[in-house]
Amino acid sequence: MILIDGKKVSLEIKAEIAEQVKQLKENGGKTPHLAAILVGHDGGSETYVAYKIKDCEAVGFKSTLVRYEDDVTQQELLAKIDELNNDTDVDGFIVQLPLPKHIDEQKIIEAIDPKKDVDGFHPENVGRMVIGLPSFVSATPFGIVELIKRYNIETSGKNCVIVGRSNIVGRPLSVLMSQKAINTTVTVAHSRTKNLKEVCYNADILIAAIGSPEFVTSDMVKDGAVVIDVGTTRVPSSETKSGFRLKGDVKFSEVAEKCSYITPVPGGVGPMTRVSLLKNTLLAATRKIYY
Ligand code: GUN
Repeated sequence: MILIDGKKVSLEIKAEIAEQVKQLKENGGKTPHLAAILVGHDGGSETYVAYKIKDCEAVGFKSTLVRYEDDVTQQELLAKIDELNNDTDVDGFIVQLPLPKHIDEQKIIEAIDPKKDVDGFHPENVGRMVIGLPSFVSATPFGIVELIKRYNIETSGKNCVIVGRSNIVGRPLSVLMSQKAINTTVTVAHSRTKNLKEVCYNADILIAAIGSPEFVTSDMVKDGAVVIDVGTTRVPSSETKSGFRLKGDVKFSEVAEKCSYITPVPGGVGPMTRVSLLKNTLLAATRKIYY
């Protein structure tokens, strides 16, 4: 079994990005600039956004954090998005999800200029990705594909089963995994899938993106399968300073021994998601998607 070290690969990619930023600056180019809008004080969102800002610093990007309380109006958010769309210094920005219930998330996503949509959530970017045009691809699917490529995992003609059909992970990943560069035969399983165990057992590459800790057990995994765990559920823990720890969607202790490759949690997909946002921001700053 080979443990896929997402942390190590993400550090390599970060170093590559930092080098490109250095060269950009040396050649008189502008410093890539990512902005993030954070609403409220959800613990997970606070942590993720803090990481995003820290990552920007690490590679030499400029970053801006715009904070609002939970009672911000949709109109105020839309006005800020309009401002960021028109701010020529900002190359890309994200609105951290989830948003409070009184705000229409889809309306917010669609207000972002697709050219600055480094999350890849805007329907224009999703549509472009589906038909194979240059597009911003959402960070987790982008990171998973990069991990598979960097580990030279054989994909052509393999059965890929993705459990979960979210707009952020499962659905876009299903498109990427069927594209010509990857060539897997994709099944998207979900809460209504019949015989889920058998469906998963048929996978050469099994990707768990359900958000249910230790959902995938060893009886669902074929010997020699590649297992990618997207789960990052926070569970209370007395052993960590923060008072919680992350649990994946895969029961690692029993599944790992059956796999050819497996991603751990933490240290697998998570760091690749983080670095993919940096990649998208660099693509935005250098006008590589829309030119
Ligand atoms: N919430 C959970 N994941 C994400 C993400 O990738 N981007 C944003 N904007 N919000 C999220």
